[in-house]
Amino acid sequence: MAPLETRVLAVDREHPDPAVIDEAAALVRRGGLVAFPTETVYGLGAHALDAAAVARVFAAKGRPSADPLIVHVGAADEVARVARAVPPLVATLAARFWPGPLTLILPKRAEVPGAVTAGLDTVAVRVPSHPVARALLAQAGVPIAAPSANRFARPSPTRAAHVLADLAGRIDLVLDAGPTDVGVESTVLDLTVWPPVVRRPGGVALEVLTEVVPDLRPDERYAAADVAQPSPGQSVRHYAPRARVTLYAGPADAALRRLAADARRRASAGTRVGVLAPEDDLAALAPDLAPLAAHGRVITQPYGARSDVPRAAHELFDALRTLDARGVDEILATAPLPEGLGRAIHDRLRRAAEGRVVSAG
Ligand code: TXA
Ligand code: MG
Repeated sequence: MAPLETRVLAVDREHPDPAVIDEAAALVRRGGLVAFPTETVYGLGAHALDAAAVARVFAAKGRPSADPLIVHVGAADEVARVARAVPPLVATLAARFWPGPLTLILPKRAEVPGAVTAGLDTVAVRVPSHPVARALLAQAGVPIAAPSANRFARPSPTRAAHVLADLAGRIDLVLDAGPTDVGVESTVLDLTVWPPVVRRPGGVALEVLTEVVPDLRPDERYAAADVAQPSPGQSVRHYAPRARVTLYAGPADAALRRLAADARRRASAGTRVGVLAPEDDLAALAPDLAPLAAHGRVITQPYGARSDVPRAAHELFDALRTLDARGVDEILATAPLPEGLGRAIHDRLRRAAEGRVVSAG
C-alpha cells in the first residue's frame, strides 16, 4: 500500500464546523477513509455501499476479511436502507437506545456489498449519538461502514492520537474531537435469531437491554478458549497490546492477593511487570508493590475505579496503550466485577489476555 498523507482536522464536539464536516463527508462519498469519533470509540469510516472503499478499510486495518463491519446510519428510519427486514422490535429498541451504543444484526439488503458483512446474509447497524458522527452521517447522506479505527487486534482508539499511532499513512483523514465518552464499543445484539443473542457486551448494559428484551441470551460461547470463532470477528485474540496480558478475576481481595504474589515472583525473575488496575485496587496493592515500584521493577497504571465503572470503561484502552508504551514485558490486570458496563471491560481484558485468566477465590 503506497503511504497516504493522513490529515488531522480538529473539530468542536458540540458544534462541529460545517466546513470541516463538508470536507469529511465529500471524502467519504468519493470513497475515502475518514476516522471519526463516536460516543464509544473512534471509527474508521467508509461509504458502506462502495465495495472498493470498504476493501480499503480492511487493507488499512490489516483486518481479516472474515470479520464483518458495523454500518452506521443517521436515524432509525434509515435502517431499511441496509436491512431488508426490520422487525417491530427495532422500533422499540431504537426508541430506548438510539442514538447510542447499541448495534443490531438484521437480514441484509442486496445493495450492501458482501465485503461489509464478510459474505454473511446479515448486517450490523447502529445510530451513533456523538454529535460529530451525526453531523458526518447527515452531510454524507450515505450509510457509513466503520470498524474501530485501530490496526487489527490492537486496543480500540478512544483518542485521535491512538488512531494516528495505528493508521497514520494508511487513511485520508482523522476528525479529532478529543476523547470519546463511553470508551468501550457498542453492545451487539443479534435479532436474526430468537431469542435474540448478545454477540458482544458493550456500552448498553445487558441488565438494561433485558428490560426491553426479557428473552435475550448472552453469547457465552466465544468465552470458551476451545471454541474457535462462533461469531465472526469474535476471535479471542483482540485488543492485544505488545506485552503479554493476564487477567486476575474473581472476588477483589482474592484476585489482588494472587496478582501481588505473581508480580513479586515475575519481577524478581527479571521481568518488567506492568500492573493495570482500577485506582482502588492499586491502593490496596500499594503495600505489596511499593518496594518493587521503587526499584522500577513494577510499573502501575490506574484506570477508573471499582467504585466508578463508567470512568474505568472510559479510561481502559488509553491505559492499556500507555502502559504498553512504557515497554513492560507483562501486564497483570484486574477489572471491576463483570456486571453492567463491567461486563464489557471484563470481555475486552479477557480477550487482550488471549484467554489467560486467573480465577482467584
Ligand atoms: O462501538 C462500536 O461498535 C464501534 C464504533 C466505531 O461504532 N465499532 C466497532 O466495530 O467496534 P468493530 O468492527 O471493531 O466491531 C464490530 C463487530 C465485529 O467484530 C463482529 O463481531 C460484529 O461487530 N458484527 C458485525 N457484523 C456482524 C454480523 N453480520 N453478524 C455477527 N456479528 C457481526
Ligand atoms: Mg474493533
